[in-house]
Amino acid sequence: MTDALRFVDITEDQLEAVIRIRSRSFGPLAASAREEWIKDAIEFIQDGRYVGVMAGDELAAAARIWDFKQWWGGNQVPMAGIAGVVVSPEYRGRGVGSKLMRGVLQRSVDKGFPLSALYPATTVIYRHLGYEFGGGRYRFSFPAADLRTLGGKDVSIRRAGPEDAERILALVAQAHTAGRTSGMLAWPVAKVAEWLEDDENFAYLAEDGFVVYLWDDSDLRVDELVALSENTARALWATVGSGSSIARNVKAFISPSDPVHYLVEHEADKHTQIQRWMLRLLDAPAAIAARGFAPGASLEVDLELEDSELASNTGRWHLSVADGSGTLTPSTATGDALRLGARGLAALYAGTPLAALRGAGLASGGSTGSDGPVDTAFAGASPYMLDFF
Ligand SMILES: CC(C)(COP(=O)(O)OP(=O)(O)OC[C@H]1O[C@@H](n2cnc3c(N)ncnc32)[C@H](O)[C@@H]1OP(=O)(O)O)[C@@H](O)C(=O)NCCC(=O)NCCS
Repeated sequence: MTDALRFVDITEDQLEAVIRIRSRSFGPLAASAREEWIKDAIEFIQDGRYVGVMAGDELAAAARIWDFKQWWGGNQVPMAGIAGVVVSPEYRGRGVGSKLMRGVLQRSVDKGFPLSALYPATTVIYRHLGYEFGGGRYRFSFPAADLRTLGGKDVSIRRAGPEDAERILALVAQAHTAGRTSGMLAWPVAKVAEWLEDDENFAYLAEDGFVVYLWDDSDLRVDELVALSENTARALWATVGSGSSIARNVKAFISPSDPVHYLVEHEADKHTQIQRWMLRLLDAPAAIAARGFAPGASLEVDLELEDSELASNTGRWHLSVADGSGTLTPSTATGDALRLGARGLAALYAGTPLAALRGAGLASGGSTGSDGPVDTAFAGASPYMLDFF
């Protein structure tokens, strides 16, 4: 059945077949969402980012590749976001998904992405191909009444609209550079303007911060809040909390180390949700060169990388980190080096301590004495994402 598998670019006339496989995988596509879905799909097709697998003359699988930028250590790094991975039920469990994902990896490399990330519905297939947990999408919940009394009444805020998109992106960039943020997606200005234009989103802007929130059934939900000072954080959260006479809880997509955790008295922990996403380095030297490292860290260490899917990453490398930047160059040194596979490298890149990677069998060799400096170089706030894709 799977003898004649071919990796292909999806064409417009195959979109009905993709929808058929998709509805068997994720549930039916609502009739009202169909037109928008096809419009989006065509954009991916036109840029060579909608791919599939044919079994003979039938489409058996499909996946799309988002052209994203992701913050790593305060720098923006191009990232291939993999989504809509679907295999038709009658072809599952026969290697079709793996063939598809191998093609996706190669296409992402060909498009010049140093990194790839995805939200796994099942981790098995992605781990086989070198993805590992990189961070989470966290949704916390606070009693609205507690936010209401956070203060900041001297801060002036006003309603924001699409014309404020540039200003909002500048505030985001300032926050993520200063916080050396990792994980967040960076959106183009047109998308931000669209988001601010939507009447269902309530956007407010202060001199050094903004919030975008909306109704979520009978609760309120913060989709993004950036504040560059304590007073503005108080003012923006209190604005959302002012809805407490109607909304009991405020759900919030934020970092696990967001200042509000330390400002607010109670956190409704039992409502916390985490969706973990996975990361993979596609081009190890380019990924290392693009991210920011801990500013005080200084590191010279050899790595022995083994990447069974992307051979160009395999080999002995020298990792050098200084002044917040890193380089990965081929090494001719001999002797024992820190050994990592693609999964270990991805988890390390995302700041996972080497002790955890050694404990999981994802790192070995080298001298454990140099684990501390390696951890320090990659350390930073927990990688988090606000968006699901
Ligand atoms: C998940 C999916 C894409 C896998 O496709 P597939 O063609 O069955 O995958 P493969 O045959 O190449 O399997 C690759 C590996 O993943 C494992 N695997 C596949 N589906 C799995 C599942 N649901 N749970 C656990 N492991 C799974 C296989 O056992 C195999 O591992 P092994 O070699 O160690 O046995 C397919 O089942 C599917 O379309 N599911 C519904 C939609 C979905 O969940 N998509 C993923 C969105 S992130």
